[in-house]
Amino acid sequence: MKLTSCLSAELHSPAFIYDIDQLRESLGLLDSLRIATGCKLLYSIKALPLTALLKQMLPLVDGFSVSSLFEARLAHEVLAKQTGSIHITTPGLRLDEFEEIAALCTHVSFNSLSQMQRLESVASGFSKGLRINPKLSALADPRFDPCRQHSKLGIDIAQLNPDHLTDIEGLHFHNSFAAEDFYNLDKTLQKLLPVLQKINPKWINLGGGYIFSETSELNHFVELIDYLKRRLDIEVFIEPGKSIIGRCGYLVTTVIDKFISDGKAILVVDTSVNHHPEIFEYQKQPQLLAATGAHQAIVAGSSCLAGDILGEYAFDRIPEPGDQLLFADVGAYSLIKASRFNGYNLPDVYFFEDNQLINIKRYDYLQYRDHW
Ligand SMILES: Cc1ncc(COP(=O)(O)O)c(C=O)c1O
Repeated sequence: MKLTSCLSAELHSPAFIYDIDQLRESLGLLDSLRIATGCKLLYSIKALPLTALLKQMLPLVDGFSVSSLFEARLAHEVLAKQTGSIHITTPGLRLDEFEEIAALCTHVSFNSLSQMQRLESVASGFSKGLRINPKLSALADPRFDPCRQHSKLGIDIAQLNPDHLTDIEGLHFHNSFAAEDFYNLDKTLQKLLPVLQKINPKWINLGGGYIFSETSELNHFVELIDYLKRRLDIEVFIEPGKSIIGRCGYLVTTVIDKFISDGKAILVVDTSVNHHPEIFEYQKQPQLLAATGAHQAIVAGSSCLAGDILGEYAFDRIPEPGDQLLFADVGAYSLIKASRFNGYNLPDVYFFEDNQLINIKRYDYLQYRDHW
C-alpha cells in the first residue's frame, strides 16, 4: 500500500508523515557510500531532531552533528551507551555552556580563532578542530552562502598560520547548499589539499549540503574521497541533514475554503508557511503530489500574512473544501522551524511503516498556553 492511499478523514490534518522505508532507503544509499569510501556518516540533527527518528537511524549512522547545547544533549541521550561521534561547530559557542558541550561532544571545530582562544583552555577531552572557510562560493544568493564576503562561518584559510595549528587534530568545512553534484567539493578539495598536506590532520569533516539521492555522479564523490585518502592518512566525515530526511517527509493538509480572487481560484488550507518557513524564506514552491491538469489554483495558508502562499498548482479538478493535499520532500527544516503563529496548532506527526500510519505526536492548547 502506498502512503497516498492512507489519506482519509481519520487522518488528523495538518500532519507531517515520515516514511520509514524511505528513510531506510536514503540511509541505505549513504551506507553504500560509507562502504565504498570508508567515510563516516553523521546525521546533522538540525534538519529534524525528532528523537524517535534519530533512534531509527542509529544502526546506520556513525553519530550526529549538532549546533548547540540542546542538540548535543539530545544526540548524547539518543546514542546512550552506543559508541558514536558527536561533532559540533557553531559561531554560537558560549563560555557558560562550553564545559558541558565539551563533555558531550567528541569533536569540536572552533568557528574562529578568537572563539578557540577564549574556550580551548576551559575544557578538554574532545578532539580539537577548526572550521575553515575555503572562500569558494557556489551560490549566487549570499543569504545561504557560507563563503559570502565578510562571512561569520569559519576561518579564512589564508589567515591560518602554524601558530594556530598546534594540537589541531581536524578540520571542518561546509560550503555547499542542496548540491546535486560534487564539482564544488572537487574544487574545494583541490584548493585545500596544500593546506591539508601541511597540517596533516587526523580527520576532516566535509559538512553537509549535498543531496546524494539526486545525483547521477556518486562515482565522482567516491573518487574524491579515494583521492583524499590516497594523499593523506585521514578519517573523513560527512554530515548531511536534508539528504537523509528531506524526501522521507510529507505534509498533509486539508482544503478549508475555496473562492475566486481577481479571477483565480484560491484554496485556503489548514497549514501555512509557518509550518515550513523555507517556502517563504526561499520563495520556493513545495512539490504537491497529484497536481497535474489544466485547472490552476493558488494554495494559500491560513495565516494573516498576505504572502502566506504555498504555491500555484494545476489540477485535473480543482479540489473542494474537505479534500486533502499532500506535499512531498518536506522532511528537512520544516517541523524544526515551525511555529504556532496566529495560534494555529503545530501539525501532528505520523510515521508510515509496514503500510500503516502511526501517530507519534499531537500538540494541544495546553502546550500553546504553557509556551506563552
Ligand atoms: C555546518 C553544517 N553542517 C551540515 C549541515 C546540513 O546541511 P544539509 O541539511 O543541507 O545537508 C548544515 C546546514 O546548514 C551546516 O551548516
